[in-house]
Amino acid sequence: MNNLKPEVFMYYKPVAKNRIYRLINTNPLMLISTVSKAKEYDIAPIAWLCPQEMDPPRILICIDTGHQTFKNIKETGKFIACIPHISQIDIVKKTGGVSGRKTDKFANFRIKTFIGKKTGCKIPEGVISYLECKTKKIIRVDSTAIVIADIVFAAVDENAFNGERLLVEKQKCKAIYHIGGEKFATFGDKIKT
Ligand SMILES: Cc1cc2nc3c(=O)[nH]c(=O)nc-3n(C[C@H](O)[C@H](O)[C@H](O)COP(=O)(O)O)c2cc1C
Repeated sequence: MNNLKPEVFMYYKPVAKNRIYRLINTNPLMLISTVSKAKEYDIAPIAWLCPQEMDPPRILICIDTGHQTFKNIKETGKFIACIPHISQIDIVKKTGGVSGRKTDKFANFRIKTFIGKKTGCKIPEGVISYLECKTKKIIRVDSTAIVIADIVFAAVDENAFNGERLLVEKQKCKAIYHIGGEKFATFGDKIKT
């Protein structure tokens, strides 16, 4: 059921500003894509995140200050938060297992991408949705940074969102949830009203 090849089947449409928060209302695991001032691209999974504001839409992510991802965000003030599809677990594990300080993850893991127009960061092909972000505030607590960012543009696969909500019951909307350790889950098929 989750063996679809995502790279060939996502058709993105922009999301209305006042509905962007609904892409991340369920707190899915995201791939945070960044670029350094020297134009080195990086990407890493982040599970600790949520919406911070509805309108203007903002995201809040908790990130270790030792990560290259954080250094890039601090340097450039921008990133793209992507919602990977359950079929992209492999990308999550690989990009979460090594730092961008040591390797070019996009090249080494052969991640096909396209470029976000607002931020210039790379977006892996096949993600369910991507949110282009510009940093609003960084709050440091010990070795963790809480990064709050304006979502300046968001797009989602046309079969994964109906303008009002994520179509979590559809195959194309199966996002990833990190249970802990090597365990992951995705949405079920039933909607209760
Ligand atoms: C499933 C998963 C979830 C993760 N969630 C977070 C998180 O919420 N915050 C965080 O700082 N790091 C998290 N990490 C760890 C980073 O993704 C990992 O350390 C990564 O290698 C950092 O890469 P970078 O140095 O290129 O930024 C997670 C890793 C995995 C595999």
